[in-house]
Amino acid sequence: MFNNLTIKTSLKDDEYNLTKNLLSYLNTDYPVQNFDFKSTIDKILKKAYQQHSLSAQEVAQNALFLIYEINLAHPLSVAAKKQYDPIILYLRQSIEHQWLNYEFRDLKEIPDLTKYDNFDDFLTSVWKKHPASHHELFDFIQNDASKEQVFMFLKSDSALNLIFFDLVAYTLIGAQPETRGTISENLWDEIGHGDNVLTHVNLYKDVLKRQNIELPDNHYIDLYSVEALSGHNAFMIGAINRCHYYKLLGVMAMTEVLDPPQYEKLVKGCKRLGLIDRDVLYYNEHITIDIKHGADWLQTVISSIVSHYPETKKEFYLGSLLRLQTAQRYYDHLLCEMKKLD
Ligand SMILES: [Fe+2]
Ligand SMILES: [Fe+2]
Repeated sequence: MFNNLTIKTSLKDDEYNLTKNLLSYLNTDYPVQNFDFKSTIDKILKKAYQQHSLSAQEVAQNALFLIYEINLAHPLSVAAKKQYDPIILYLRQSIEHQWLNYEFRDLKEIPDLTKYDNFDDFLTSVWKKHPASHHELFDFIQNDASKEQVFMFLKSDSALNLIFFDLVAYTLIGAQPETRGTISENLWDEIGHGDNVLTHVNLYKDVLKRQNIELPDNHYIDLYSVEALSGHNAFMIGAINRCHYYKLLGVMAMTEVLDPPQYEKLVKGCKRLGLIDRDVLYYNEHITIDIKHGADWLQTVISSIVSHYPETKKEFYLGSLLRLQTAQRYYDHLLCEMKKLD
């Protein structure tokens, strides 16, 4: 979502009252009284990432999501004025730090990345070997899902697809000069080569419209679980933090290689349910164009940066893992929710 005058939440409230107080802090000019953000977030993060509480992780990831929303809010909103507010920065950095440590907790040792001369081949193998690259969610959609279940996927896919132009645009700021042409081409594809009807945002809206799926103002973030929130946040952490810029490129590369084979299955599932090619233009477009985008990120952008700065390999690797891990948890959860509709 972008250009919103108020920040919207997927989580109504929580046992710590963080969500309610954070929303009030972000959306109004009034100071929040009698609420200690710092001790509250410290308590939540301890529960979330030291005691493995999924509900505390959801509160933390939702707070991070709300804070990231500031970056795309209406410039004249109250929230926009809080972008660099010290309390907001404290919350954001505390959550980001603990989350990343937790996300990579099983990574005892990073493989020796210096030995990979063809680093793009290495990242391709990381993608192919990861369970997210061949997740059963898409086999289920292809072969068994009902229309209602596919529609749940489409709704859940909305929020990220509808800000994807902005996410690609974030990769352009401060980009290595020789990568700018490739990134700009990707951005040009996102914006439909200048044709407003063919922008990927509008192609996605068209998928929903043709199935009479209403698009609410909140882009269905009310369907967002902790898994979806962290998947969304995996992009934004790299978008707005310069120190995580290379991770964002890893996230992007994995996103583009994940899509084509999965979307092929999705389109087959849609056709099984009676939809026609015209109904799934967005997905058909991405089956082909994302093969190019994936190769562009891996073989052109990342390879070029790695050749200048070999020490960046670790960041690309971590960004790739961040995307694959969050995607896998998101697919697991979504499949489970879809099956409940049976
Ligand atoms: Fe796209
Ligand atoms: Fe793409």
